[in-house]
Parts: sequence; structure tokens; C-alpha cells
Amino acid sequence: MPSTDRAAIRVGLVGAGRMSGHHLRGFARAGVEVAAVCDPNPDAADAAAALAGGAETFRDIRDMLRGADLDAVDIAVPHHLHADFALAALESGRHVYLEKPLAATVAEGRMLVDAAERSDRVFMVGHNLLFHPAVRAARRCLADREIGRIVTVEAWTSGWLDLEPGDFRLDAAQTGGGAWIDCASHLLYTLEAMLGPFAAVRAVLNAGESRVGAEDTAVAAGRFDSGASATLRMSYSDVDAASSSGWPDDWRTGYVIRGTLGRLEVEVLPRAVVRFQQLGHESEVAELDSDFGLSFDSAILEFIDSIREGRAPAVTARDALRTLSQIAEAPGPLGWNAA
Ligand SMILES: NC(=O)c1ccc[n+]([C@@H]2O[C@H](COP(=O)([O-])OP(=O)(O)OC[C@H]3O[C@@H](n4cnc5c(N)ncnc54)[C@H](O)[C@@H]3O)[C@@H](O)[C@H]2O)c1
Repeated sequence: MPSTDRAAIRVGLVGAGRMSGHHLRGFARAGVEVAAVCDPNPDAADAAAALAGGAETFRDIRDMLRGADLDAVDIAVPHHLHADFALAALESGRHVYLEKPLAATVAEGRMLVDAAERSDRVFMVGHNLLFHPAVRAARRCLADREIGRIVTVEAWTSGWLDLEPGDFRLDAAQTGGGAWIDCASHLLYTLEAMLGPFAAVRAVLNAGESRVGAEDTAVAAGRFDSGASATLRMSYSDVDAASSSGWPDDWRTGYVIRGTLGRLEVEVLPRAVVRFQQLGHESEVAELDSDFGLSFDSAILEFIDSIREGRAPAVTARDALRTLSQIAEAPGPLGWNAA
């Protein structure tokens, strides 16, 4: 559908939970109509449909795919449903925007890559942090400024997550794991965008008592092709950030990148700030727009513009399979899934 008007694109949202408000704002800002909302929870579906300006509601994705006049489907549901729903949407001829992770398992992820690459539809995965102002500024800084040989990198995403009974994150069968599969993708794909490919990533996942279905905390070590080392930390039980509001308002996501000639600190949450300091110089601080929703707005705009322009999106199924494979391969003998 090259050069279609954005206003002519009709979207169906599947999953009216936490993510739906962010996604609906993104479609509204892109000037795109969300014409249908699907969720088995009628209150959630009705609330999202009202937010979308009066969308039709469905309880089942297949009814929506058959019954609604849609060009594209946005999927933001528990991970065990990603592969089935994305495949059904693609096979119905719709473009697909799918939240991370690509799927709950690598086998499902490969199946989606095959289906996406066989199809002429746009298939984009929600690696939204690539579009975050602080990550964009960090990539520009690394390209333009002299930081020397990158030696070490620290990255974290953590906070205090309170989950209501019934939340899919309390059930490892619905997430495909715990904090590692849920959070690691954001750190892995942003680090590769900033610093090049990882040669290897190894993770240690907490065992025993947990605040979610599997581990609530994971740490990892990685080595880039460049030779630099990275440490990653993901946690739903970070009391430093303890507060009632959880993600995203009281979450902490950031990076420290140390080179032989300088250092770059990138804060994504709770504020968007980039600090660069070259050896022997004052640090330069860029305070950016801290509205976290901008990352979703820009990711969704990229999806819509790829449909309009008939081109591949910035994040393909194959890109997301790379990240999912790193997630699946990283847990070592101390991981919960080592048995
Ligand atoms: N990119 C990010 O920063 C980010 C942040 C949070 C969540 N996510 C991702 O978004 C997705 C959803 O997460 P969430 O936190 O919004 O979860 P959530 O539990 O708040 O919402 C999931 C929704 O899916 C609905 N659902 C369950 N089964 C369904 C079915 N059969 N058909 C249609 N809807 C169904 C639930 O009723 C619920 O409303 C996950 O893939 C998660 O990893 C991404």
C-alpha cells in the first residue's frame, strides 16, 4: 500500500492491558484510526475502545480478524500468545506490530520469521527503546565524539513491580520465564545498536522465592565483537526504586559506557539525560524530553510509515529473533531453566 494516507489505515488492537494506552496514543498521534479492540476482559476492552474514540470490541482475535475491516493488527498480549496471534494476523493479510519479545520460544520465533519473510505485509516488533530520545542521543554521541576504545559497559532496567492476582507475569507458562525474558530484550537490542554485535551473553537468573512467575531478578555478562565487556541487571525487586507506581514512572533504565578517552552515561528512566565526559574535560549534559511515551509514539509511527511506503520496518522479525535467541541461549548452569 505505498503512499497511503495515514488516516486511511485502520488498526485493530489485541490486548487492552498496561501497554494499550501507550499504543493508542501512538496511533492517535500518527493520525491512524484504531477501529477495533480485542480482549477477553470486557472492562479492559471497553475502556480501550472508548479511549480509541469508540472502536468496535471483540473477545476473540479470530472473530476480530474475520469481522472487522482492518489493514493492520497491533498485538500486546501475554508472550505465549504472540506466535499464534501474529501468525493468524499475517495469514489474514494484515500488517502486524507485535510487542517484544518476538515469541515465548525460539522455535516459535523462527516460525514467525519464516511467515513474515514469505508475506508481503509489514511485520514490526516493538523494540521501542531504539526510538527513545536518550538512546538516539547516545548513538549520535558515540558516532560523533571521541570516547576511545570501549572497555566496559553497565546496563540496567529495574524497579518494584506490584502485580495483581491473575497478572500474566505471575505465570511462567505465559511469559516463557521471568524478568530475564521480559526485560533483557530492551538492554540487548539497544546495546547492540549503540556498540555493535555481542559475541556472547551469559546470564544468571535468581532462584527460589520470587515476585513473579519465575526469576524476579537476573544479571548477565556479555562480550561484544569489539572486545568490550558488559554487565546487565534486570529486576522487579529493586528497592532503590521502591514506590507505588512501578513501571514506567518509577523505573530505572540506563547505561554507563566507559572508553579509554571518555565516558557516557545514558539515563532512559526515570528521566531522559545523557552525560558525556571526555578525559580532562568538564562533562556535557543533555537533558532530553522525559516523556517515556515518545518511544512508543515513534516506534508506531515507523510501523505506519513502513506500511505507507511499502518498505521494511526498522525492526524486523529477524532482528527480534536475534535478540530472542540471545535471551534463550544465555542462561547458564545457575539459571532456573538449567534442569
Ligand atoms: N515495550 C515495552 O516497554 C513493554 C512494556 C510492558 C509490556 N510490554 C509487552 O507488552 C505485552 C503486554 O504486556 P502488558 O504489560 O500490557 O500486559 P497486561 O497483562 O497488562 O495486558 C495484557 C492484556 O492481554 C489481554 N489478553 C489475555 N489473553 C488474551 C487473548 N486471548 N486475546 C486478547 N487479549 C488477551 C489481557 O486481558 C490483558 O488485558 C507483552 O508482550 C509485554 O512484554 C512491553
